[in-house]
Amino acid sequence: MRITRIKNVKGELRVPSDKSITHRGILLGAVGKGKTLLKEWLDSADTRSTLNIVKMLGVNVEESGKDLLIEGKRGVFKEPVDILDAGNSGTTARLTTGLLATQPFFSVITGDESLRNRPMLRVVKPLREMGAIIDGREGGNRLPVAIRGGNLKGISFFNKKSSAQVKSSLMIAGLFAEGITEITEPFMSRDHTERMLKYMGVEVIQMETEKGHIIKVKGGQIPNGEEIYCPADPSSSAFFAGLATLVEGSEILLKDVLVNPTRDGFFRVLKKMGGKIEYINVREISGETVADILVKSADKLEPVTIEGDILPSLIDEIPILAIVMAFADGVSCVRQAGELRVKESDRIRAVVVNLRRMGVNVEEFDDGFCIEGKGKLKGAFIETYGDHRIAMAFTVAGLVAEGETHIDDTECVNVSYPRFYDDLNIIVRNGYI
Ligand code: S3P
Repeated sequence: MRITRIKNVKGELRVPSDKSITHRGILLGAVGKGKTLLKEWLDSADTRSTLNIVKMLGVNVEESGKDLLIEGKRGVFKEPVDILDAGNSGTTARLTTGLLATQPFFSVITGDESLRNRPMLRVVKPLREMGAIIDGREGGNRLPVAIRGGNLKGISFFNKKSSAQVKSSLMIAGLFAEGITEITEPFMSRDHTERMLKYMGVEVIQMETEKGHIIKVKGGQIPNGEEIYCPADPSSSAFFAGLATLVEGSEILLKDVLVNPTRDGFFRVLKKMGGKIEYINVREISGETVADILVKSADKLEPVTIEGDILPSLIDEIPILAIVMAFADGVSCVRQAGELRVKESDRIRAVVVNLRRMGVNVEEFDDGFCIEGKGKLKGAFIETYGDHRIAMAFTVAGLVAEGETHIDDTECVNVSYPRFYDDLNIIVRNGYI
């Protein structure tokens, strides 16, 4: 795709619904009792992977308009007749492995080339400790993995990387394990599973201690089917907030955005840098906080360093944050973020390579990068590495760069945001894309 500079962006947008909440709504609805109505679910390649898997496990799902009606199986599923395919989705692979670990039958889960290269031992190891039999490539660290589960026992687990996927996988397994499953994370990661389970009537205990944030769930609790609303995805909204911040004379209203504090780090950092960000009409819907976000172009952006406990709340927004950092008045850094190397692509490499091509001085570290803000980008040839967030972040970069930018593959946006380029066209007024 060829992209050139735009004049400004204006208007209102309700980006597609949250990916993390949609995955969880499908899975927790499937394990629960009674029917779950998932309102305004995200229909994208990743969430379709989760949906297809639960269907293969014998779950009845009705699609009607923007809603999904899921019939809960009370934790008793059917042995799948074929291999389960998680596609490009790490959340599908890891959360589903937790669910399959509770089932006495044989199942195999695989994924696309990117997912087959991503680490699975982070869930396989604790699930084995709970009693599941799991084997796979490289000792169970790579898909495909084969699972025979059942008869699980609760464990105490230290979630060293503060991964929400690991926590959620163990919590799902813990619902059907004997005793208590306890997870400690040094930094609090996205807490949608905790919130949704509570909303579905499950008792979840949360505590702050010296070691970090502790979550406990007792086995034998089956979630009640509920009506769950999926708000707009803050990770998808971030691309437009970044664009409006960088382009003079812009103003956009992002509607119904999930602003859960474990997810809105990007907006908080943008504001700290000098971005004009305002939360309007803050409200609670089915256990989550939602707001409309007004974004106006910034006059000046200060540099910032991102590390420590803020990281989980903006981990998927680092590529677009890197583009904003290129316009800050000084050197900005992202450190302690080695996890970025095992996302849909090696996002440290992808950001460093592409920003350098756009004329920016970037220093690469094992666990992050430092970007020298120059206030301008030059058009370049961008490689997405098949990663949706790299494609969308560098599309924004192309829209604010001098000259022409070419993006090698834009198909990958289907993973989280199939109508990304249509929505862009709506808010780009005097530009060309
Ligand atoms: C997700 C958790 C995060 C995030 C991913 C979605 C989730 O991954 O990067 O895109 O829905 O639980 P980790 O759990 O690996 O940190």
